[in-house]
Amino acid sequence: MQTLITSAAQSITRNDFIPEIEMGLLAQSAWISPKFLYDPLGSHLFTAITLLPEYYPSNTEKNIFSQYQNQITDAVGSGGTLIDLGAGNCQKAEYLFNSLKPASYLAIDFSVEYLQDALTKIQGKYPHIHMQCIGMDFSKQIVIPNSITTCKRTFFYPGSSIGNFLKSEAIQLLRQIKNQARDGGLLIGVDLMKEDSVLMAAYDDPLKVTAAFNLNILRSINSHIGSNFKVDQFRHTVKINHAENRVELYLEALEDLTVSWLGNSRVFKRGDLIHTENSHKYTIESIKELLKNAGFETAQIWTDPKNYFAVIYAQ
Ligand code: AVI
Repeated sequence: MQTLITSAAQSITRNDFIPEIEMGLLAQSAWISPKFLYDPLGSHLFTAITLLPEYYPSNTEKNIFSQYQNQITDAVGSGGTLIDLGAGNCQKAEYLFNSLKPASYLAIDFSVEYLQDALTKIQGKYPHIHMQCIGMDFSKQIVIPNSITTCKRTFFYPGSSIGNFLKSEAIQLLRQIKNQARDGGLLIGVDLMKEDSVLMAAYDDPLKVTAAFNLNILRSINSHIGSNFKVDQFRHTVKINHAENRVELYLEALEDLTVSWLGNSRVFKRGDLIHTENSHKYTIESIKELLKNAGFETAQIWTDPKNYFAVIYAQ
């Protein structure tokens, strides 16, 4: 079978994001969408985070996949198209190729340059799988190209990336997945609630990789809108919001400063915060409820001994 790599369909241009970025920077409580964390450097820094011992989600999820590989394979079945949402370096999907044996693989990510490099590396190893990649901001809308003709679509959404959406947004995204899965389903990784000390260590690691990942969003924004953020005028800050069951990432201004871009500007006082990410943590009950509200009728769930993380196949 021909192996194909294309980045096309919905291409993202830099200008598309200017209104959204400006809205966040000019809001009373400033915010930047977490998708801007994933420029090429940010994507590499995120990969580095997943290697940190303190960042338990990656290892825990991997262990669940290897311990329950047979059960997961039985539940999901083989063939069809594996659609990898937020594919990153495509490594997690690659672990599934031998067991799920997809006929085709569609990798989708916001950071298409990083994705293309990753896909080029793995396609040589799996010449029988038809591979395609697309740069897409799927937080708005999932658009599956017409070239994907298989009836069975297995959406793969690992790493608890669903946790980076507000509940209302998560339901919209899950509904879109349910509506487009045809005979397939959703294989998803979800981070569960746990003690604060474990969360703080995971999101404020002693090597400061997460701090670099968070601060790099300012460079990413500079490259999108030509702003003059200086990374050393901010510091990475983590809060745990118990009312919302989430970890919140911020950048805190270390001094009074003004950021300017495209004829606009924003004054930050020392101590002012820019909200950059939410990472929601679920319980088994709350994630089952969310999936049900999104239209999924069944959910098979696998967890680790500490109940830190869950892998779910929903249909
Ligand atoms: C991608 N996402 C699930 C990560 C998380 O844990 O929310 C992003 C991240 N932010 C800081 N560390 C990792």
